[in-house]
Amino acid sequence: MSGTNFVSSMIKRLEGKVAVITGGASGIGEATAKLFVQHGAKVVIADVQDQLGQSLARNLGPPDTVSYIRCDVTSPPDVRAAVDAAVSRYGQLDIMHNNAGVAGSPDHRIVDCDDDNFRRVMDVNLFGPYLGAKHAARVMVPAGRGGCILFTASSAAVTSGNISYPYKASKNAVVGLANNLCAELGQHGIRVNTISPFTVATPLLRSALGGLGEEEAEQFVAAVAPPNLKRMVLRAEDVAKAALYLASDDAKYVSGLNLVLDGGHNHNHPIFGASAFT
Ligand SMILES: NC(=O)c1ccc[n+]([C@@H]2O[C@H](COP(=O)([O-])OP(=O)(O)OC[C@H]3O[C@@H](n4cnc5c(N)ncnc54)[C@H](O)[C@@H]3O)[C@@H](O)[C@H]2O)c1
Repeated sequence: MSGTNFVSSMIKRLEGKVAVITGGASGIGEATAKLFVQHGAKVVIADVQDQLGQSLARNLGPPDTVSYIRCDVTSPPDVRAAVDAAVSRYGQLDIMHNNAGVAGSPDHRIVDCDDDNFRRVMDVNLFGPYLGAKHAARVMVPAGRGGCILFTASSAAVTSGNISYPYKASKNAVVGLANNLCAELGQHGIRVNTISPFTVATPLLRSALGGLGEEEAEQFVAAVAPPNLKRMVLRAEDVAKAALYLASDDAKYVSGLNLVLDGGHNHNHPIFGASAFT
Protein backbone atom coordinates (compact mmCIF):
# COMPACT_ATOMS: atom_id res chain seq x y z
CA MET A 1 0.00 0.00 0.00
CA SER A 2 1.43 3.41 -0.95
CA GLY A 3 1.86 6.08 1.73
CA THR A 4 -1.03 8.12 0.34
CA ASN A 5 -3.34 5.11 0.20
CA PHE A 6 -2.42 4.17 3.74
CA VAL A 7 -3.27 7.65 5.01
CA SER A 8 -6.57 7.86 3.12
CA SER A 9 -7.59 4.38 4.27
CA MET A 10 -7.12 5.52 7.88
CA ILE A 11 -9.26 8.63 7.58
CA LYS A 12 -12.64 8.05 9.14
CA ARG A 13 -14.91 10.50 7.43
CA LEU A 14 -17.92 10.00 9.73
CA GLU A 15 -16.18 9.83 13.10
CA GLY A 16 -18.52 11.12 15.83
CA LYS A 17 -21.62 10.99 13.65
CA VAL A 18 -24.80 8.96 14.17
CA ALA A 19 -26.88 7.67 11.26
CA VAL A 20 -30.22 5.98 10.70
CA ILE A 21 -30.45 4.04 7.43
CA THR A 22 -33.88 2.84 6.39
CA GLY A 23 -33.88 -0.24 4.20
CA GLY A 24 -30.46 -0.84 5.76
CA ALA A 25 -30.69 -4.65 5.84
CA SER A 26 -30.18 -5.27 2.12
CA GLY A 27 -28.71 -3.96 -1.12
CA ILE A 28 -27.74 -0.29 -1.21
CA GLY A 29 -28.69 0.27 2.45
CA GLU A 30 -26.59 -2.69 3.57
CA ALA A 31 -23.55 -1.47 1.61
CA THR A 32 -24.05 1.99 3.06
CA ALA A 33 -24.34 0.69 6.63
CA LYS A 34 -21.04 -1.19 6.18
CA LEU A 35 -19.22 1.81 4.77
CA PHE A 36 -20.61 4.22 7.37
CA VAL A 37 -19.48 1.93 10.22
CA GLN A 38 -16.03 1.57 8.61
CA HIS A 39 -15.85 5.35 8.58
CA GLY A 40 -16.56 5.66 12.28
CA ALA A 41 -20.31 6.35 12.32
CA LYS A 42 -22.69 4.80 14.79
CA VAL A 43 -25.53 3.31 12.77
CA VAL A 44 -29.12 2.26 13.37
CA ILE A 45 -30.24 -0.14 10.65
CA ALA A 46 -34.01 0.31 10.23
CA ASP A 47 -35.84 -2.28 8.17
CA VAL A 48 -38.63 -4.84 8.15
CA GLN A 49 -36.34 -7.82 7.49
CA ASP A 50 -35.57 -8.60 11.12
CA GLN A 51 -33.26 -11.58 10.70
CA LEU A 52 -31.19 -9.97 7.96
CA GLY A 53 -30.99 -6.66 9.82
CA GLN A 54 -30.04 -8.25 13.14
CA SER A 55 -27.36 -10.48 11.67
CA LEU A 56 -25.93 -7.63 9.62
CA ALA A 57 -25.72 -5.45 12.73
CA ARG A 58 -24.00 -8.25 14.67
CA ASN A 59 -21.49 -8.73 11.86
CA LEU A 60 -20.70 -5.03 11.56
CA GLY A 61 -19.86 -4.30 15.17
CA PRO A 62 -20.86 -4.25 18.82
CA PRO A 63 -24.29 -2.87 19.84
CA ASP A 64 -22.72 0.35 21.11
CA THR A 65 -21.70 1.02 17.49
CA VAL A 66 -24.35 -0.53 15.27
CA SER A 67 -27.79 -1.93 15.98
CA TYR A 68 -31.02 -2.93 14.30
CA ILE A 69 -34.56 -1.71 14.82
CA ARG A 70 -37.69 -2.99 13.15
CA CYS A 71 -39.19 -0.03 11.33
CA ASP A 72 -41.86 -0.08 8.68
CA VAL A 73 -41.27 3.28 7.03
CA THR A 74 -44.99 3.64 6.25
CA SER A 75 -45.76 3.65 9.98
CA PRO A 76 -45.44 7.03 11.77
CA PRO A 77 -44.83 5.42 15.21
CA ASP A 78 -42.15 3.12 13.75
CA VAL A 79 -40.28 5.98 12.09
CA ARG A 80 -40.54 8.10 15.23
CA ALA A 81 -39.15 5.17 17.25
CA ALA A 82 -36.24 4.59 14.84
CA VAL A 83 -35.16 8.22 15.07
CA ASP A 84 -35.60 8.22 18.85
CA ALA A 85 -33.57 5.00 19.06
CA ALA A 86 -30.61 6.77 17.44
CA VAL A 87 -30.79 9.49 20.08
CA SER A 88 -31.34 7.17 23.04
CA ARG A 89 -28.71 4.59 21.96
CA TYR A 90 -26.04 6.91 20.57
CA GLY A 91 -26.86 10.37 21.91
CA GLN A 92 -27.80 12.26 18.72
CA LEU A 93 -28.82 12.05 15.07
CA ASP A 94 -26.58 13.51 12.35
CA ILE A 95 -27.52 11.54 9.22
CA MET A 96 -30.97 10.34 8.21
CA HIS A 97 -30.73 8.19 5.10
CA ASN A 98 -34.22 7.55 3.72
CA ASN A 99 -33.32 4.64 1.50
CA ALA A 100 -36.03 1.97 1.90
CA GLY A 101 -38.03 1.39 -1.24
CA VAL A 102 -39.96 -1.10 -3.28
CA ALA A 103 -40.29 -1.60 -7.02
CA GLY A 104 -43.94 -2.63 -6.93
CA SER A 105 -45.48 -4.42 -9.85
CA PRO A 106 -44.33 -3.30 -13.31
CA ASP A 107 -47.25 -1.08 -14.27
CA HIS A 108 -45.91 0.48 -17.46
CA ARG A 109 -49.28 1.10 -19.15
CA ILE A 110 -51.47 3.72 -17.56
CA VAL A 111 -54.81 2.09 -18.37
CA ASP A 112 -53.65 -1.18 -16.82
CA CYS A 113 -52.19 0.34 -13.64
CA ASP A 114 -53.25 -1.38 -10.47
CA ASP A 115 -54.58 1.23 -8.03
CA ASP A 116 -53.58 -0.70 -4.91
CA ASN A 117 -50.05 -1.14 -6.24
CA PHE A 118 -49.86 2.60 -6.96
CA ARG A 119 -50.89 3.44 -3.39
CA ARG A 120 -48.54 0.88 -1.88
CA VAL A 121 -45.50 2.08 -3.86
CA MET A 122 -46.25 5.72 -3.01
CA ASP A 123 -46.68 4.75 0.62
CA VAL A 124 -43.25 3.11 0.93
CA ASN A 125 -41.29 5.25 -1.54
CA LEU A 126 -42.76 8.68 -0.78
CA PHE A 127 -44.74 8.71 2.48
CA GLY A 128 -41.89 6.75 4.14
CA PRO A 129 -39.18 9.28 3.19
CA TYR A 130 -41.52 12.12 4.15
CA LEU A 131 -41.88 10.59 7.63
CA GLY A 132 -38.14 10.05 7.84
CA ALA A 133 -37.43 13.68 7.02
CA LYS A 134 -40.11 14.95 9.39
CA HIS A 135 -38.84 12.97 12.38
CA ALA A 136 -35.21 13.69 11.58
CA ALA A 137 -35.99 17.42 11.55
CA ARG A 138 -37.91 17.00 14.81
CA VAL A 139 -34.69 16.04 16.58
CA MET A 140 -32.05 17.76 14.42
CA VAL A 141 -33.53 21.28 14.56
CA PRO A 142 -33.71 21.64 18.37
CA ALA A 143 -30.33 19.92 18.77
CA GLY A 144 -28.80 22.78 16.76
CA ARG A 145 -25.93 20.67 15.40
CA GLY A 146 -27.00 20.78 11.77
CA GLY A 147 -27.23 17.44 10.03
CA CYS A 148 -27.73 15.65 6.79
CA ILE A 149 -30.89 14.19 5.32
CA LEU A 150 -30.34 11.87 2.37
CA PHE A 151 -32.78 10.14 0.06
CA THR A 152 -32.30 7.30 -2.38
CA ALA A 153 -34.41 8.29 -5.36
CA SER A 154 -33.58 6.76 -8.76
CA SER A 155 -32.35 7.68 -12.21
CA ALA A 156 -36.01 7.01 -13.07
CA ALA A 157 -36.58 10.48 -11.59
CA VAL A 158 -34.62 12.13 -14.40
CA THR A 159 -35.79 10.14 -17.38
CA SER A 160 -39.11 8.95 -18.75
CA GLY A 161 -40.50 6.19 -20.87
CA ASN A 162 -40.85 2.52 -20.12
CA ILE A 163 -40.89 2.92 -16.35
CA SER A 164 -43.51 1.72 -13.89
CA TYR A 165 -45.86 4.64 -13.19
CA PRO A 166 -45.96 4.49 -9.39
CA TYR A 167 -42.19 3.98 -9.18
CA LYS A 168 -41.46 6.92 -11.49
CA ALA A 169 -43.98 9.18 -9.74
CA SER A 170 -42.70 8.29 -6.28
CA LYS A 171 -39.06 8.95 -7.16
CA ASN A 172 -39.78 12.29 -8.86
CA ALA A 173 -41.75 13.28 -5.79
CA VAL A 174 -38.86 12.37 -3.50
CA VAL A 175 -36.61 14.79 -5.41
CA GLY A 176 -39.25 17.50 -4.98
CA LEU A 177 -39.57 16.73 -1.28
CA ALA A 178 -35.80 17.01 -0.90
CA ASN A 179 -35.64 20.35 -2.73
CA ASN A 180 -38.22 21.92 -0.47
CA LEU A 181 -36.60 20.49 2.65
CA CYS A 182 -33.28 21.94 1.50
CA ALA A 183 -34.84 25.38 1.32
CA GLU A 184 -36.55 25.12 4.71
CA LEU A 185 -33.86 23.37 6.73
CA GLY A 186 -30.79 25.20 5.44
CA GLN A 187 -31.29 27.88 8.08
CA HIS A 188 -30.74 25.16 10.69
CA GLY A 189 -27.53 23.97 9.02
CA ILE A 190 -29.22 20.81 7.80
CA ARG A 191 -28.16 19.70 4.33
CA VAL A 192 -30.62 17.74 2.20
CA ASN A 193 -29.54 15.73 -0.83
CA THR A 194 -30.74 12.94 -3.07
CA ILE A 195 -28.89 10.09 -4.76
CA SER A 196 -30.39 8.78 -8.00
CA PRO A 197 -28.76 5.54 -9.05
CA PHE A 198 -29.19 3.71 -12.31
CA THR A 199 -29.84 -0.04 -11.97
CA VAL A 200 -27.99 -2.05 -9.33
CA ALA A 201 -28.41 -5.83 -9.12
CA THR A 202 -29.85 -5.83 -5.61
CA PRO A 203 -32.70 -8.09 -4.45
CA LEU A 204 -35.16 -5.32 -5.47
CA LEU A 205 -34.01 -5.31 -9.09
CA ARG A 206 -33.44 -9.06 -9.29
CA SER A 207 -36.94 -9.86 -8.10
CA ALA A 208 -38.39 -7.19 -10.44
CA LEU A 209 -36.63 -9.09 -13.24
CA GLY A 210 -38.30 -12.35 -12.22
CA GLY A 211 -35.72 -13.67 -9.75
CA LEU A 212 -32.51 -13.39 -11.77
CA GLY A 213 -29.13 -13.93 -10.13
CA GLU A 214 -26.79 -10.98 -9.64
CA GLU A 215 -24.67 -11.59 -12.73
CA GLU A 216 -27.68 -12.47 -14.88
CA ALA A 217 -29.41 -9.26 -13.81
CA GLU A 218 -26.33 -7.20 -14.69
CA GLN A 219 -26.10 -8.88 -18.09
CA PHE A 220 -29.81 -8.39 -18.74
CA VAL A 221 -29.60 -4.67 -17.95
CA ALA A 222 -26.46 -4.26 -20.08
CA ALA A 223 -28.32 -5.85 -22.99
CA VAL A 224 -31.53 -3.79 -22.76
CA ALA A 225 -29.91 -0.52 -21.65
CA PRO A 226 -26.26 -0.54 -22.75
CA PRO A 227 -24.15 1.52 -20.36
CA ASN A 228 -22.79 4.87 -21.48
CA LEU A 229 -19.56 4.16 -19.60
CA LYS A 230 -18.03 1.17 -21.28
CA ARG A 231 -17.12 -1.80 -19.05
CA MET A 232 -18.56 -0.10 -15.96
CA VAL A 233 -21.24 -1.74 -13.82
CA LEU A 234 -22.88 0.19 -11.00
CA ARG A 235 -22.76 -1.71 -7.71
CA ALA A 236 -24.34 -1.05 -4.31
CA GLU A 237 -20.88 -0.16 -2.95
CA ASP A 238 -20.61 2.66 -5.50
CA VAL A 239 -23.90 4.13 -4.33
CA ALA A 240 -22.71 3.79 -0.73
CA LYS A 241 -19.61 5.86 -1.61
CA ALA A 242 -21.85 8.63 -2.93
CA ALA A 243 -23.81 8.50 0.33
CA LEU A 244 -20.54 8.65 2.29
CA TYR A 245 -19.47 11.77 0.42
CA LEU A 246 -22.81 13.52 0.89
CA ALA A 247 -23.02 12.55 4.57
CA SER A 248 -19.47 13.66 5.35
CA ASP A 249 -18.07 17.11 5.98
CA ASP A 250 -16.44 16.89 2.52
CA ALA A 251 -19.89 17.90 1.28
CA LYS A 252 -20.35 20.65 3.86
CA TYR A 253 -21.63 23.16 1.27
CA VAL A 254 -23.61 20.66 -0.79
CA SER A 255 -27.37 20.86 -0.35
CA GLY A 256 -30.26 20.51 -2.77
CA LEU A 257 -28.26 18.20 -5.03
CA ASN A 258 -29.75 15.25 -6.85
CA LEU A 259 -26.58 13.22 -7.45
CA VAL A 260 -27.42 11.13 -10.50
CA LEU A 261 -25.29 7.96 -10.67
CA ASP A 262 -26.11 6.80 -14.15
CA GLY A 263 -22.69 7.06 -15.81
CA GLY A 264 -24.10 9.72 -18.13
CA HIS A 265 -26.74 7.30 -19.42
CA ASN A 266 -29.45 9.95 -19.34
CA HIS A 267 -27.44 12.16 -21.74
CA ASN A 268 -26.91 9.47 -24.32
CA HIS A 269 -30.08 9.50 -26.36
CA PRO A 270 -30.31 6.56 -28.78
CA ILE A 271 -31.68 8.81 -31.53
CA PHE A 272 -28.23 10.38 -31.93
CA GLY A 273 -26.49 6.99 -32.15
CA ALA A 274 -23.69 6.47 -29.63
CA SER A 275 -22.08 4.12 -32.18
CA ALA A 276 -20.93 7.22 -34.07
CA PHE A 277 -18.24 7.62 -31.36
CA THR A 278 -16.95 4.06 -31.46
N1 LIG B 1 -31.56 -1.54 -7.31
C1 LIG B 1 -31.76 -0.60 -8.22
O1 LIG B 1 -31.61 -0.81 -9.42
C2 LIG B 1 -32.14 0.79 -7.76
C3 LIG B 1 -31.99 1.83 -8.67
C4 LIG B 1 -32.38 3.12 -8.27
C5 LIG B 1 -32.88 3.32 -7.00
N2 LIG B 1 -33.02 2.26 -6.14
C6 LIG B 1 -33.56 2.54 -4.83
O2 LIG B 1 -32.63 2.16 -3.85
C7 LIG B 1 -33.30 1.94 -2.62
C8 LIG B 1 -32.77 0.66 -2.00
O3 LIG B 1 -33.17 -0.43 -2.82
P1 LIG B 1 -32.22 -1.67 -3.14
O4 LIG B 1 -32.04 -1.71 -4.60
O5 LIG B 1 -31.04 -1.68 -2.24
O6 LIG B 1 -33.22 -2.88 -2.81
P2 LIG B 1 -33.26 -3.98 -1.65
O7 LIG B 1 -34.54 -4.69 -1.85
O8 LIG B 1 -32.00 -4.72 -1.61
O9 LIG B 1 -33.34 -3.07 -0.33
C9 LIG B 1 -34.49 -2.37 0.01
C10 LIG B 1 -34.69 -2.52 1.50
O10 LIG B 1 -35.85 -1.74 1.85
C11 LIG B 1 -36.56 -2.49 2.79
N3 LIG B 1 -37.97 -2.09 2.84
C12 LIG B 1 -38.91 -2.27 1.90
N4 LIG B 1 -40.10 -1.81 2.35
C13 LIG B 1 -39.87 -1.30 3.59
C14 LIG B 1 -40.68 -0.69 4.55
N5 LIG B 1 -42.00 -0.50 4.36
N6 LIG B 1 -40.12 -0.28 5.70
C15 LIG B 1 -38.79 -0.47 5.92
N7 LIG B 1 -37.97 -1.05 5.05
C16 LIG B 1 -38.51 -1.47 3.89
C17 LIG B 1 -36.42 -3.94 2.35
O11 LIG B 1 -36.71 -4.85 3.40
C18 LIG B 1 -34.98 -3.97 1.91
O12 LIG B 1 -34.13 -4.36 2.95
C19 LIG B 1 -34.79 1.92 -2.96
O13 LIG B 1 -35.35 3.15 -2.57
C20 LIG B 1 -34.81 1.76 -4.45
O14 LIG B 1 -35.98 2.30 -5.04
C21 LIG B 1 -32.66 1.01 -6.50
